[in-house]
Amino acid sequence: MDYSQKIAHRLWNRPEKGELESHREETFIDDIIQKDHLERQVLSSLEGVETVFDGGAGCGRFSILLAKRGLRVTHFDISQPMLDKARELAEAQGVLDRMEFVQGALEDLSAYKDGQFDLVLSFDAPVSYTWPNQEKVLGELARICRKRMLVSVTSRLGALPYRANPLQKNPFILDETSPDSQVRWLVENAGSLIERFRFDREGTEKLLKEGVMGGQWEIDEYERGGTPWCITYSFLPDELQGILERQGLQNIRMAGPGAYARTLPRELLVKLMGNPEQKRDFLDFCYEYDQNPYVLGMGKDNLFAAGEKG
Ligand SMILES: C[S@@+](CC[C@H](N)C(=O)[O-])C[C@H]1O[C@@H](n2cnc3c(N)ncnc32)[C@H](O)[C@@H]1O
Repeated sequence: MDYSQKIAHRLWNRPEKGELESHREETFIDDIIQKDHLERQVLSSLEGVETVFDGGAGCGRFSILLAKRGLRVTHFDISQPMLDKARELAEAQGVLDRMEFVQGALEDLSAYKDGQFDLVLSFDAPVSYTWPNQEKVLGELARICRKRMLVSVTSRLGALPYRANPLQKNPFILDETSPDSQVRWLVENAGSLIERFRFDREGTEKLLKEGVMGGQWEIDEYERGGTPWCITYSFLPDELQGILERQGLQNIRMAGPGAYARTLPRELLVKLMGNPEQKRDFLDFCYEYDQNPYVLGMGKDNLFAAGEKG
């Protein structure tokens, strides 16, 4: 088994993962913006759709939404804690009977037939965690898709500025006094992160060229029994478009959720999120701006693409 799969399995199977991930939109503004963008994309893609495959569906942010719309959804994920949390949330929403929960890795979709699902989704980077099999996985997702496929993967151009910014998440903290463990860590370590920071020109140029985030350190850490972040493959926009076209998808549309919001300071983002009318106007405009082809690579974390089966 590839290290990326083993590491993804250990990371996402941490018992607290389901609970933590289900609160991201109450904790981080970039997650609010990204999920809002994806939700709009999904809801405008439902014509003629009855069955859905959500690959790396997490705690059900999109699978439950679609089951609530009356669709039959296969919720597929590598992590048992995420599946448990999703099932709990689906039960609370009264949609368990329209959902099937499957534990599995995207690297093996052989259980599914060609064109089995009208709509295939994979959001917030599960495909990127399958390196070095990301292209094969996109091919398999396209194979089981009958009508439409929507994915979001890690954006290489969007991720590169993080190499020069260990504080990239801090402007998006909704409440700096939140007890959330990631918020506490980010707030408490801001000073030492700046102190230790040096610009790694060689590593940054390597990432621009090759797209792989992480590597031998993650493998060694895994072997020592640790739980490193997944080795992640980050895509360039034209690269992702080319792969999807080679898999037989047409009319590819792309976006970079978060591109507009990353230009604003935290104080203004927090103010916007606190005013329902301004929040709505802002999210509407983000959706429009973030679909402009000239900014799509600069999505905050994700590069979004949608395509139609011929
Ligand atoms: C950031 S979460 C996104 C969840 C959901 N799609 C969303 O947008 O809210 C990534 C999910 O991918 C799952 N995942 C990671 N690697 C995977 C793999 N190789 N196969 C299937 N699922 C995977 C994780 O367990 C996690 O639930």
